[in-house]
Amino acid sequence: FSLRDFNTFGFDAIAQYFVGVKSAEELTEILLDPSWKHITKFILGGGSNVLFTKDIDALVIHPAIRGIEKIKEDESSVWLKVGAGENWHAFVMYCVENNYGGVENLSLIPGTIGAAPMQNIGAYGVEVKDVIESVEVVDIQTGEPKIFTNTECQFGYRESIFKKEAKGKYVITGVTFILNKKPVLNVGYGDVQKTLQEKNVTDPTIRDVSDVIISIRRSKLPDPAVIGNAGSFFKNPEIPEDQFNALREKYAQLPGYPAGPGKVKVPAGWLIEKAGWKGYREGNIGVHEKQALVLVNYGGGTGNAVKLLSEKIQESVENQFGIRLTTEVNFI
Ligand code: EPU
Repeated sequence: FSLRDFNTFGFDAIAQYFVGVKSAEELTEILLDPSWKHITKFILGGGSNVLFTKDIDALVIHPAIRGIEKIKEDESSVWLKVGAGENWHAFVMYCVENNYGGVENLSLIPGTIGAAPMQNIGAYGVEVKDVIESVEVVDIQTGEPKIFTNTECQFGYRESIFKKEAKGKYVITGVTFILNKKPVLNVGYGDVQKTLQEKNVTDPTIRDVSDVIISIRRSKLPDPAVIGNAGSFFKNPEIPEDQFNALREKYAQLPGYPAGPGKVKVPAGWLIEKAGWKGYREGNIGVHEKQALVLVNYGGGTGNAVKLLSEKIQESVENQFGIRLTTEVNFI
């Protein structure tokens, strides 16, 4: 079974077995089915953050659990329970339609609801952890359902328990969000403020913010339906302030954002561009010409070629700046 349509890079990895599940109960059934007991299981959501470098000798389980359910509401907030298989951006559009605030800055992020807590997706000053109440999962070993509260998810920058201790142990089946009926907008991010001003929007609604973010993303980031990619390939590194100040002496333009006591976050895209990789192309793969943090498959490339390219980039950035980039994308 080809996974080409199940990863946003569009790589043609072959799964030994593949099954889509439509409910947590169906998932439990498959997990406990004696005929699948001894076969390795691999969970694949929207495939928006994976790099396949080989075929998958496993039963690939694709949670296709749908539904957006309002489970609670008070004067200021609404609680929505959403199936892991719902498309992330479609959910954001649903919230914008209903004037539920909190996810508008996360417009147009590829992938599914189930993938969002996994790496705590974030953009333009908002992270999904800010609106998650809890995450529903099923234990792969026992088939039992379980709930992780927001705190138990141990969210960090592009991090959660599901990428650390709990890695490979659970399938995310749904997420409960708390959204704001009296939206508080977050438009502090430079590009967002600038674009709102250019459009002469003085008193923005959540739809205005969503529209602006969609236009910024379209202008910089390749649409995975057209050019294969998995968004940012590396994380933005946090470096000690001393190291940042030393680098600034040599590179006066180096941007940096405060990242807690004594730490500065540096945009990996800037480092990669300065190291000369922006727009670089090697056969069918390369570095996006408008955003150096995004590696792309122009069609017909391989996951291994992207892996090799990412290693060359890591090495070259490390040689020039003394900073080792870590990947955001999961290598399979
Ligand atoms: N920059 C360059 N050259 C580039 C790209 C970026 O010099 O080719 C520098 C510029 O100084 C720019 C700064 O980097 O001002 C920041 O760039 P941008 O606003 O595009 O954001 P980013 O740091 O590259 C992060 C997230 C994105 C998210 C944007 C907006 C990570 C790893 N990436 O990118 O998330 O959309 O901020 O908030 O934190 C993703 O995770 O897949 C993703 C796309």
